[in-house]
Amino acid sequence: MSIVFDEQSKLFYLHTPHTSYVFGLYQKFLLHGYWGPSLRELAPTPGLAYIAQMLGSSMGTSEPGSWLTRDCMRQEYPVYGTGDFREPAFHAEYEDGSRETELLYVGHTVTPGKPSLPGLPATFASEGEAETLTLELADPKTGLHVFLLYTAFSDVDAITRSVRVENRGGEVINIRRIMSASVDLPSLDFEAISLFGGWANERNLQRQPIGRGDITFDSKRGHSSAHQSPFLALVRPETTELSGEAYGMSFIYSGNFAAGVYGDITHTARMYMGLNSFDFNWRLEPGERFDAPEVAMVYSTEGLSGMSRNFHDLYRAHLVRGKYAHSPRPVLLNNWEATNFTFDEEKILSIAEGGRALGVDLMVLDDGWFGKRDDPKSSLGDWYVAKNKLPDGIDGLALKIEKMGMKFGLWFEPEMISPDSDLYRAHPDWCIHTPGRTRLESRWQLTLDLSRRDVCDYMLGLMYRVLDGAKISYIKWDMNRSICNIGSPALPRERQAEVPHRYMLGYYYMLEQLTSRYPDILFEGCASGGARFDAGQLYYTPQIWTSDDTDAVERLHIHYGTSLAFPPETQGSHVSACPNCVVHRNTPMKMRCDVAVIGQFGFELDLTRESEADLAVCRQAIEIYKDIRHTVHTGDIYRLASPFDGNFTAVQFVEKDGSRIVVAIYNVLATPNAPFTVIRLAGLDPDARYRDVVGNLYSGSYLMNVGLHECARNDFSSRIVTLDRV
Ligand code: DGJ
Repeated sequence: MSIVFDEQSKLFYLHTPHTSYVFGLYQKFLLHGYWGPSLRELAPTPGLAYIAQMLGSSMGTSEPGSWLTRDCMRQEYPVYGTGDFREPAFHAEYEDGSRETELLYVGHTVTPGKPSLPGLPATFASEGEAETLTLELADPKTGLHVFLLYTAFSDVDAITRSVRVENRGGEVINIRRIMSASVDLPSLDFEAISLFGGWANERNLQRQPIGRGDITFDSKRGHSSAHQSPFLALVRPETTELSGEAYGMSFIYSGNFAAGVYGDITHTARMYMGLNSFDFNWRLEPGERFDAPEVAMVYSTEGLSGMSRNFHDLYRAHLVRGKYAHSPRPVLLNNWEATNFTFDEEKILSIAEGGRALGVDLMVLDDGWFGKRDDPKSSLGDWYVAKNKLPDGIDGLALKIEKMGMKFGLWFEPEMISPDSDLYRAHPDWCIHTPGRTRLESRWQLTLDLSRRDVCDYMLGLMYRVLDGAKISYIKWDMNRSICNIGSPALPRERQAEVPHRYMLGYYYMLEQLTSRYPDILFEGCASGGARFDAGQLYYTPQIWTSDDTDAVERLHIHYGTSLAFPPETQGSHVSACPNCVVHRNTPMKMRCDVAVIGQFGFELDLTRESEADLAVCRQAIEIYKDIRHTVHTGDIYRLASPFDGNFTAVQFVEKDGSRIVVAIYNVLATPNAPFTVIRLAGLDPDARYRDVVGNLYSGSYLMNVGLHECARNDFSSRIVTLDRV
């Protein structure tokens, strides 16, 4: 059983294969107990009294006649108003203007499997794969009922948490802050790892010590963003990629978020994640409920790579859905970097022909096929084919591509509206805006008000017309600006601070409608590259365009950071032309291919302009990719050398049954008299023997202790090593 309630001690035990998470009832409120390696139920147990430590906090507040101050206790779901002055998980305002809450235990249930979250992305599990604990808490003064949901998975080392709020009283409740998870860890001996970046530079690794006070990573941009990722890890100072403790949280949500750690006087690190409470308020009328999105939580003693393997296993088995969740996806060729907006049918067909000759499976037509879109300045919202470019329409082009033996895919940016568009001229009030304020543009575009269901349905209708009229096998859903001027004139004054979350609910509604209406279409998420690369997005689109930066050296960093939480097959990864259009760097075709093959592989260039020698490299890369993708896309990741630490990057993948190993090794710059760099493999059977492609035999212990020896003789050198167990 994954979840056990010990009646005597009043402790809840949540077990995954190798970890446990424990909390319990102390009087009528909840205290946190433990999160770490597997723990058997304590018996007999002193209960939580030993956890409810009282330090000499002279300013501590407690109930009359009691010495217990909650400010010094490890709380399971801290609320504002109970004398805990640290970052609360929950803060609400009531009709009388008061802002204090007390959440007392009412009851709990344990059910097999996992319920879905209405309108939100969430992990799923069958009855045999998980158990869910639903804890009901209630505020004695108001009609507020809070349900804490915990799912413990029996096949992966992960638990998920979410929160449901119900207003069972007669008065309005304003939710001002609602974290989906908050854990009080009994130590400050941690470093926080976050992923920061910007356009074309997503998910860099930042590792910093924590201390007393709050460190927050968040997005207020209306999407999860390239600037901070909805991910946070706490690791020990000695934790490496392959060993040491790592606690990870990843938010299954694509909008504004906050993730943080608050260190206090009792040496407690409060790790939290949830909706960003900045500019947030949710008005809950009597009888209404609010569902806060889900947080995935993993713990590993096997370092950062162990943490990543747990996230990868969870997302592969319990988040990514649909036809392409577990089947190989097409190798695609996208025209964007080859043409930008300047193309016609002849050009697209010639690019497609280059792909066909190489063995590409799918041709994707990117931005510029609709309205009067010859540059980024117009036409978003006018999803009608530009006949001057494509005289036979999308259906005609799709047919021609199909006749060539490839599938056809199409780009959309459905959330946006250009001020210079027929749609905007007809509906100037359909964008997110604050009346009377300048509508700030980004890339000459405004954001459609997806908090309005009529707007969502209208846009879906336009998309259905295109999709029903042509043979389309793939959609790239793009989104190219952060959202500001937050306001929806369609909502009353008191609901304006709901707009960012309502926008996300509209976005998810559209994705749910589309993906269920077209189950055979492969969807790829995109936001100016990887500005919405998160677990919420992966629930709808099994892959996401990782970055607009396709330079091989840059991608080493971007893939490394992204892989902290997300599996390689979710990362759209294309070979593009040189010099690179973002950093203007020239790298050999071999390295560009070797970088791209350990993601979701594709091309983004006019292959007809490449030399025969480079085409041969590309052709071989498709073969290598198809040969290694099962191991890379379903196996265990071990990051062996980080691009953030130096010239060498090495990433290893091990087939789940141990039968195959793939190691991708890259060296950026040559150095004179370079010593050998030793790449020691990990996670192998020391007694097993492995054969490389030229027939050399190695023992597992040799590979893990002596390792592969690399020498940095050339700039931009790389190789993909495969080893099969004999
Ligand atoms: C941003 C995306 O990241 C690119 O791949 C491309 O689709 C452009 N938008 C098109 O406008």
